[in-house]
Amino acid sequence: MPGTSVIGLQWGDEAKGKIVDLLTLEHDIVVRYQGGANAGHTVVVGDQTYKLSLLPSGVLTPGVTCVIAGGVVFNPAKAIEELDELKRRGVEDYDNLKLSDRMHVIFPWHFAEDRAMDQSTSDGENIGTTQRGIGPCYRDKVGRAFAIRLGDLYRPNFRERVEHVTRAKNVAIAAMVPANEFTPLNAADIYEQYRDYAARLKPYVDDTTDYLLTAAEQGKRILFEGAQGALLDVDHGTYPYVTSSNSSGVGVSNGSGLPAKYINRVIGVVKAYSTRVGGGPFPTEQNNDIGQRIRDQGNEYGTVTRRPRRCGWLDAVAIRYTSRLSGVDSICVMLLDVLSGLDELQICTAYEIDGKRTNRFPSQVDDLRRAKPVYETLPGWSENLTKVRELDDLPANARAYLDRISEIVGTPIDMVSVGPARDQTIRVGKKLLAGVR
Ligand code: GDP
Ligand code: IMO
Ligand code: MG
Repeated sequence: MPGTSVIGLQWGDEAKGKIVDLLTLEHDIVVRYQGGANAGHTVVVGDQTYKLSLLPSGVLTPGVTCVIAGGVVFNPAKAIEELDELKRRGVEDYDNLKLSDRMHVIFPWHFAEDRAMDQSTSDGENIGTTQRGIGPCYRDKVGRAFAIRLGDLYRPNFRERVEHVTRAKNVAIAAMVPANEFTPLNAADIYEQYRDYAARLKPYVDDTTDYLLTAAEQGKRILFEGAQGALLDVDHGTYPYVTSSNSSGVGVSNGSGLPAKYINRVIGVVKAYSTRVGGGPFPTEQNNDIGQRIRDQGNEYGTVTRRPRRCGWLDAVAIRYTSRLSGVDSICVMLLDVLSGLDELQICTAYEIDGKRTNRFPSQVDDLRRAKPVYETLPGWSENLTKVRELDDLPANARAYLDRISEIVGTPIDMVSVGPARDQTIRVGKKLLAGVR
């Protein structure tokens, strides 16, 4: 079984980092394949908490090769910062890393464009990006004329390329921002900065498509770490309130270069409730005491931007859609402990749109804005779950809540998480992780 992918089924921050870290133990290679430093994945090992934006969450397990594949938009400064931090903290094998020479590189103009671009969309709400230059870099990749890939940093004409693109970007950015806010970018400074990054990262740069194809052909076990969540997928999410890559299960092959036949297990990660950072419709949002309580109890503040996350009830219409879209075989239900102490829990099982009931997730954002959630109410539980390790030791109402999620989504549950630490995990699928301590 060479390939497993881990996909967030909501709007990101489902605790994919924790699941990837656990699953790393049964894999040889861990791959990030889309997104970039807009991601913030948390891994807790003993008393140490690691926040990873670019390096795969497998990096904390010695002996595993980590790959950042061609579909990622790459911020070299951030990668160097994360490597330095891991080294400083004594992480063994912190640089067992391969970086695709096909990756598109984030440059200072991408940050400037992300800031300057009028993000107000056709219906007036801001996307509220992470300001990490992600959208502008993906736009340049598709546009080709101003794109620079990691491999280009080692070509003899790199300096001229930077000068050429900087000239064009200064014109474009000047046209987007008020004159008193415009500081032209300096090509010589940028060239020198990126030349230094290139020298530092050279030992890791490789053709990762060939590396991964060879590894898959040899039967190596490969774990694909999705970033963001399927509802943020640029093609299949809540467009335009999405990120700029394919963050659902459909993105694994194009981002990594490995054909779908090598991905034979898809694990969907869901929070026991819903959160969203940034703009866009969120039918089950609880902009009230319940939402605030979930935010406080779940520490729901962005890993990257520290923005308060919007919180709400579990939306089973949405996760049934993203689970089908991603071809999910099983799900992991995360942060169940956060719901302790609520008298009742609601699960959205259908939407009512213009008086009509449906359980289809709308393709158009206007319809999603008008969707009124139809809730099923389940009794809550008061017990603290953070020390529970066996399914049988969960309160009956917590079991019933999980069973209902599994039933509505139509997939079995593999793991239930009751805290950030590795051992705060209930293994339901006994075959999975048999060897994990
Ligand atoms: P990711 O982007 O999907 O990897 O998720 P984030 O790291 O952005 O956010 C998940 C947060 O929840 C992190 O702070 C984790 O340490 C924390 N976490 C993970 N699992 C659990 C859990 O079961 N219970 C609680 N209370 N926190 C958890
Ligand atoms: P992880 O991998 C949650 C959101 C932003 C914004 C939209 C577009 O940690 O789950 P972008 O900067 O990508 O152009 O922003 O997507 N977003 C995330 N939300 N978790 C993430 O990553 C996210 N990455 C991007 O808040 O709404
Ligand atoms: Mg996150």
